[in-house]
Amino acid sequence: MPLSVVILAAGQGTRMMSSRPKVVHELAGKPILQHVVASSRELQPDQIILVVGHGAAQVREAMAQQPVTFVEQAQQLGTGHALQQCLDVIDTGNDVLVLVGDVPLIRGATLAQLVKQRGAAAVTVLSFIPQNPHGYGRIVRAADGGVCAIVEQKDTSRAQAEITECNSGILLLRGAGLRKLVMALDNTNAQGEYYLTDVVAIAAAQGEIVSAVVCEDANEVNGINNQQQLAQVETLYRQRAASALMAQGVKLYDPTRIDVRGELTVGHDVEIDINCIFEGEVSLGDNVRIGANCVIRNTRIDAGSEIKPMTSIEDAIIGRKVSIGPFARIRPGTECADEVRIGNFVETKQARIGQGSKVNHLSYIGDTEMGSGVNIGAGTITCNYDGANKFKTIIEDGVFVGSDTQLVAPVRVARNATIGAGSTITKDVAADRLTLSRAKQVTIDGWSRPKKQTGET
Ligand code: UD1
Ligand code: CA
Repeated sequence: MPLSVVILAAGQGTRMMSSRPKVVHELAGKPILQHVVASSRELQPDQIILVVGHGAAQVREAMAQQPVTFVEQAQQLGTGHALQQCLDVIDTGNDVLVLVGDVPLIRGATLAQLVKQRGAAAVTVLSFIPQNPHGYGRIVRAADGGVCAIVEQKDTSRAQAEITECNSGILLLRGAGLRKLVMALDNTNAQGEYYLTDVVAIAAAQGEIVSAVVCEDANEVNGINNQQQLAQVETLYRQRAASALMAQGVKLYDPTRIDVRGELTVGHDVEIDINCIFEGEVSLGDNVRIGANCVIRNTRIDAGSEIKPMTSIEDAIIGRKVSIGPFARIRPGTECADEVRIGNFVETKQARIGQGSKVNHLSYIGDTEMGSGVNIGAGTITCNYDGANKFKTIIEDGVFVGSDTQLVAPVRVARNATIGAGSTITKDVAADRLTLSRAKQVTIDGWSRPKKQTGET
């Protein structure tokens, strides 16, 4: 059956105590709402409609790149009213899956299950059994087990308050008869709101089939209403990501101490030490090892490479059997060929470093093309910036740069050149020879160290 998804996200989220709308707060580096959109996309629906209202401009901005249609609910008169605003936008005849914008851990597979189990039902509710049902709508079942109503917390009788099966807020409406059903909602209840949940009682009273599918993993339908719950959901998200990695054979030194805020793809026998953060799209080849406290963003690291502790890598491509760190900062546009070594306190940016080259200590390599087999001595700086423009440094194969050298760009160091330590290189360097630029070492006879002056000054 063709499907439309409607995600309700017009509410204020007062309890977040924030000036930003709740659904744009970040979970694992992405707006909460984006997780819901991602799960619903797994169903390949015809359309995804986002109902926005409170902070609509901010929500639209945060979701601008997403394949969604926005519908504005100017006044938040309830979840049923929110869906009413969508009726003219929903493709006629489509089944409608209604999701809530503040329940981001819902899995695509669970939604697919719900859709699969619809059968002939007019309404199919995703229910769950929380540890504490207080606050949730309760699923009221008839003697034969059929669902006959959802009663909101504030409208429950004492007996209904004892019911443990609750409404997740997620439900599926059959396309046929949908408009009539949704337009039949009214607001005669404790909160004076148009409750979407009343479609259950209305459909049941019309003799339609209403069913509820229990969500096995209650964690999936955890809602976020305040900062505590956001942190709890973040923890659950982290656990889920860690479990998925371990299921693929990754050795995590401590699964509670890894954050994956994006897509992390892994080969076999990958090892990740504690407190690492992966952001955006990161891929780690076979046998890659990541030391403790590394932050890696939008980067590919090929097989057999090791990233040592306290290293930050962003927008880089790292070849095979490379060693980086500890304490290295690999900035955007760095490309390391195979077997490169980058050591402690080295910063690279827009730098192509050829096979087997070494930058082992305390250096800055920016806007640089470096060949293979190069050795860069400790404390070497490419002076790429004159205060207005950036210039390139080219270092050809086999070059040896002595320690504490400044390479003032634009400059080219030709093949197999050697530069003596402490040189400031401002002109191109010839191949195969020794070049240095330093004052001659002298010893001054009769010189003595200054003495501390005494008396008034
Ligand atoms: C809702 C359900 C309740 C369920 C619970 C699960 C109703 C009436 N109740 O209650 O049965 O147990 O979710 O978490 O549906 N929204 C709008 N426009 C509005 C009102 C709300 O878009 O006018 C959006 C909110 O932004 C939110 C979602 O709908 O994403 C749910 O609204 P909320 O007020 O949080 O409903 P609950 O009281 O949690
Ligand atoms: Ca809620």
